[in-house]
Amino acid sequence: MTVNTDTVLSADSLGKEYPGPPPRHALDGVSLDVPRGNFVALMGPSGSGKSTLLHLLGALDTPSEGAVHFEGKRIGDLSDDDRTRLRRDRIGFVFQAFHLVDMLTVAENVSLGAAIRGETKARETAEDVRVRTEELLTEIGLEARGREYPDRLSGGEQQRVAIARALFTEPSVLIADEPTGNLDRSNGDAVLGMLRQAADTRGCAVVMATHDPRTAAEADRVYLLRDGQICDQLDLEDEGGPRVDRIQAWLAAAAS
Ligand SMILES: Nc1ncnc2c1ncn2[C@@H]1O[C@H](COP(=O)(O)OP(=O)(O)O)[C@@H](O)[C@H]1O
Ligand SMILES: [Mg+2]
Repeated sequence: MTVNTDTVLSADSLGKEYPGPPPRHALDGVSLDVPRGNFVALMGPSGSGKSTLLHLLGALDTPSEGAVHFEGKRIGDLSDDDRTRLRRDRIGFVFQAFHLVDMLTVAENVSLGAAIRGETKARETAEDVRVRTEELLTEIGLEARGREYPDRLSGGEQQRVAIARALFTEPSVLIADEPTGNLDRSNGDAVLGMLRQAADTRGCAVVMATHDPRTAAEADRVYLLRDGQICDQLDLEDEGGPRVDRIQAWLAAAAS
């Protein structure tokens, strides 16, 4: 296996202060590089800054200090239009709440990205969209459910649809904030398997926040946040015993 260490996303001394009142310093001096096709987990207690960091990495919010680079380009230097395009075409988002559009069918939810950017991608025919939607539905095991509405689906199925939607535009980065937080273990495992596969077969970098060691065990690298700073990192690709055990030992050592 060749390892591609190309950096797709990098954070350089990121700081974030929410104005308040009272003002709150949510991130302080956070730097990290995400290689292409890598799966990165962010751990840390509630309030440690995981979601804030994901918002900055996904160009949903702007840092107070430092910079985010996406494929070598500084996001802060992009025009509003280019930033919108970046978010829409190059980055996929998956949240704890599935955020499907209730009034659209499952298939329409998956291809929502094509509908939104419709006018800019004239080359993309309705047939292309249909074929791609069907491929993705098959991949998530819901090929027979495309004409149904999301409220007929279980939570696990809805989250799989949300991931298919996020992957529709073939993004190079997937941002996932507690994606298994509302799911039972078997549905959570299915969702994690899809994220792992996005990294392995599509070369999509995945950055996921979780507080669950079992969930983080799917990643290649885990960062631990505390009070808005990265206080440690664990490379799971290195050899050394069951991953969950290693994460638990690492968390315990960091807490002591
Ligand atoms: N929109 C906001 N306005 C003010 N403070 C915020 C906002 N979002 C998050 N915070 C604060 O920033 C800190 C980090 O929050 P967050 O990034 O959500 O942490 P986590 O995802 O690890 O739980 C917390 O103290 C939180 O209360
Ligand atoms: Mg959070």
